[in-house]
Amino acid sequence: MTEVSGDQKKQYVLVPGGAGFIGSHCVIELVTAGYTPIAVDNECNSSRECLKRVEQITGCKIISYKIDCLDLESLRDIFKKYPIYAIINCAALKSVGESVQKPILYYKNNIGCLLNLLTCMEEFNVKNFLFSSSATVYGTPKYLPLDEKHPCIGDAITNPYGKSKYICEHILKDTMVAHPEWNIILLRYFNPVGAHKTGLIGENPIGKPNNLMPYIAQVVVGRLPYVNIFGTDYNTPDGTGVRDYIHVVDVAMGHIAAMKQFEINCGLKIYNLGTGKGYSVREMIKALEKASGKTIPYKECSRRSGDLATVYADPTLAAQELGWTAQRNLDEMCEDLWRWQSNNPNGFQ
Ligand code: UFG
Repeated sequence: MTEVSGDQKKQYVLVPGGAGFIGSHCVIELVTAGYTPIAVDNECNSSRECLKRVEQITGCKIISYKIDCLDLESLRDIFKKYPIYAIINCAALKSVGESVQKPILYYKNNIGCLLNLLTCMEEFNVKNFLFSSSATVYGTPKYLPLDEKHPCIGDAITNPYGKSKYICEHILKDTMVAHPEWNIILLRYFNPVGAHKTGLIGENPIGKPNNLMPYIAQVVVGRLPYVNIFGTDYNTPDGTGVRDYIHVVDVAMGHIAAMKQFEINCGLKIYNLGTGKGYSVREMIKALEKASGKTIPYKECSRRSGDLATVYADPTLAAQELGWTAQRNLDEMCEDLWRWQSNNPNGFQ
């Protein structure tokens, strides 16, 4: 196994949340692109085993620390130790439902981690920051597809998780005013799904999944009895909710494409990471049936509170400015998800 060294072509990239679903895929693509990732994670919703698998996939030893970004002193130690070139911040709590029950925890964690990272950037003169944001900041769409000019109205966001992302975006915009020499990129993810094509890493929610695709996948492997379809009376072609599902590897590659903007001193930039195409809940169930070769039982239920009928991206800006478009189609998302879930029915355990 090669030890990735700091004098490699590119630089150290700190990845808070690097053992999580998106973060671990970013770590792989960073290595592939010649950067040296440093994964830090408090492992509250991730597993050490994930980074071992990342080492297996990349053939590289990954620098990693079990650190909570709320612990400023421990974070400072990392900045003292490594000359960090950029940060890709994937560290956040992300369960919409849980955030309604535990707003203080969500605000403290998601905003606190960001503030500590920004504090370290000031202290250690780090200028490049990439933030994992979410399409949730748009609130209820006034028009579709959602482009980056669509208004973001905090009051219209129905849960503390989404509001924490909205507040973080504002903190970053204000920070840019005070530090015009910094580069800050907000990446608004739509619905990341799928898994690495090796089937070695993928989404591993603790407890019952909140999101559709990991939920369906657990039904297929028999961990859950059936899928609940939340709402069949939406104003959509088949009555079920429509979302812009995007392969997690495409999301990770979007980060690498965005990192190139740092080299041209981009300042503040905002990009959607989506495919531009929406699929309904029923279409997603069918697609995973096709990938797994199994019939998936489901029940039609009432709407989930706070859900929207249709959400999908206009990904044109990322195509124009980053030269990035999502490459992987729905079949590939489902085949890769199925490979991960069937090889690891109990996740990383
Ligand atoms: N759904 C079901 N059954 C389930 C879970 C979901 O029918 O068991 C439906 C939802 O009603 C929705 C669609 O599947 O129509 C997708 O739901 P997800 O929970 O997978 O995703 P959301 O679009 O609700 O939320 C996702 C992320 C959030 C993010 C948001 C941004 O989970 O973190 O996109 O738009 F804020």
